[in-house]
Amino acid sequence: MREQKVLSTGGFPTIALRPARGKLISFEGMDGSGKSTQIALLASELRRFGISVVLTREPGGTPLGETIRALLLDLNNRGIHPTAELALMFASRAQLVAKVIEPALRRGEWVLCDRFVDFSEAYQGGGRQLGSEIVLVMHQALLGGLTPDLTILLDHDIAESVPRARTRSITTEGKENRRLENESRLFFKRVQQTFRQIAARDKERVFVTDAMGPIDVIHDEIVSEVARLVFS
Ligand SMILES: Nc1ncnc2c1ncn2[C@@H]1O[C@H](COP(=O)(O)OP(=O)(O)OP(=O)(O)O)[C@@H](O)[C@H]1O
Ligand SMILES: [Mg+2]
Repeated sequence: MREQKVLSTGGFPTIALRPARGKLISFEGMDGSGKSTQIALLASELRRFGISVVLTREPGGTPLGETIRALLLDLNNRGIHPTAELALMFASRAQLVAKVIEPALRRGEWVLCDRFVDFSEAYQGGGRQLGSEIVLVMHQALLGGLTPDLTILLDHDIAESVPRARTRSITTEGKENRRLENESRLFFKRVQQTFRQIAARDKERVFVTDAMGPIDVIHDEIVSEVARLVFS
């Protein structure tokens, strides 16, 4: 807890307690890499320690964001121009930051993001070949450069990514993933490479874990990283 001095009406200083700012942790990785699985596990672990946790997903997480998500997943919009797609992603994200993420962090809560700015850099910058610069400029201009305290990158071979996402799409989210299956292997290769470039560039922030390992082993690694974040 951070202490904040305020003047009482009687003229004597009193101490008002204001919660320390919460932590922002993003989960990145290609479709089907295990983000939702690991977020759920970390959230219950943090809650066990009495930490208030807020979960977000992108695009989405606010009423406006969910409308944008539906637009992006609509098969009728599959011809969307890459810059329009990027703008929609950032519109959703800007709303999420303003309405959910920043208020939660100010209340001292922890926010676990299912994708954040790195997603746009990898998918629109790398995959759709818009380049990183436009994404980083939008990050500064629209989000004030808000950066996660820690990013978990679930890295794995693209050959495994699509089959896993397919399994999930059949079992849980149905047609949402049909668009994904139409994407080319080269596209995913570029996405994967860009994620790896981001991790090499932002070593302090990004923890890379091998998403091919067993779920509980990956979870333990993530918990160790989060502990480092708390005690550093
Ligand atoms: N380490 C793992 N080993 C084997 N299977 C896994 C592992 N992690 C997750 N899975 C399984 O792979 C599928 C996809 O996992 P999950 O939904 O967590 O991925 P995701 O990254 O959230 O996908 P998306 O980006 O499409 O939302 C699920 O069926 C999940 O149970
Ligand atoms: Mg998911």
